[in-house]
Amino acid sequence: MTRLGLLRQTIDRLTRAAAESPRSTAQWLLAEALQVPPLSLYTEPDEPLPPDCLRRVETWTARCAEGEPLAYVLGSVEFAGQRFRVTPATLIPRPETELLWEVATRLVEILPPGPILDVGTGCGALAVSLARRAPGRHVYGSDIDPSALAVAETNAQGLANLSLYRADLLRPMPEAAFALIVANLPYIPTSALAQLPKNVQHEPRKALDGGPDGLLLIRSLITQAAGRCRALALEVGDHQADPVRELLEEAGFPRSRSLQDLSGMDRIVVGESDG
Ligand SMILES: C[S@@+](CC[C@H](N)C(=O)[O-])C[C@H]1O[C@@H](n2cnc3c(N)ncnc32)[C@H](O)[C@@H]1O
Repeated sequence: MTRLGLLRQTIDRLTRAAAESPRSTAQWLLAEALQVPPLSLYTEPDEPLPPDCLRRVETWTARCAEGEPLAYVLGSVEFAGQRFRVTPATLIPRPETELLWEVATRLVEILPPGPILDVGTGCGALAVSLARRAPGRHVYGSDIDPSALAVAETNAQGLANLSLYRADLLRPMPEAAFALIVANLPYIPTSALAQLPKNVQHEPRKALDGGPDGLLLIRSLITQAAGRCRALALEVGDHQADPVRELLEEAGFPRSRSLQDLSGMDRIVVGESDG
């Protein structure tokens, strides 16, 4: 079989299984199995396939057809231009979270010196990307889940300005205060979890469940972070930006603003304190 033949067959199988994004999923599976750029599936369509590649694509396609997310099948995902290891112990970093990373990198340029903390770091994508972008600052990444931290450790290798540690929000805190705290905490209301698409249901519940109104953890973090950071940047769910801005202003972050993602939703909320 040729590359193009296998590509067509894989797209067809994933389409029949109602898997997510059959064409792009099939392209990534083949490109990864062959260790070639996805474009070469079209520029060199008649290349024959090594037998082990056929077997690998077959196994991976079956998993995707069952609804397992592509990133778990491949064991990695791209975030902010870099690849990060992910496992079912970690949430798969989303494109929306790249907006939080961009906002954080802009804040880091203007905030006074001081460390940065990424609360609920998961696979560490945000913390690692910030540590690479701001080598002059110490970055901490924390999570309540030790199995997520083990994955973050593998993504953080070689970064001297990044430390990972286990904590329940800010308990404990590795420093008295931070220039910036960022967090993409779980924000989906518990009652909405059962309606999430099949592939999202493969992700850890601890990474998704935001309690009765989705704001359980965000509310606690805002309370704990007051007086301990100059700026707090949070990713929020649909229709949560206004209540989160109110919480920030009540807690002692008098200047707050929200930023929209590409779909026009208020996705990131930033609160800044005066001192
Ligand atoms: C939505 S995921 C975000 C992961 C990563 N920051 C990202 O953007 O891809 C939320 C993370 O918060 C962690 N988490 C949940 N409750 C926590 C708590 N009380 N304290 C610290 N981390 C918590 C979960 O284990 C999970 O890794």
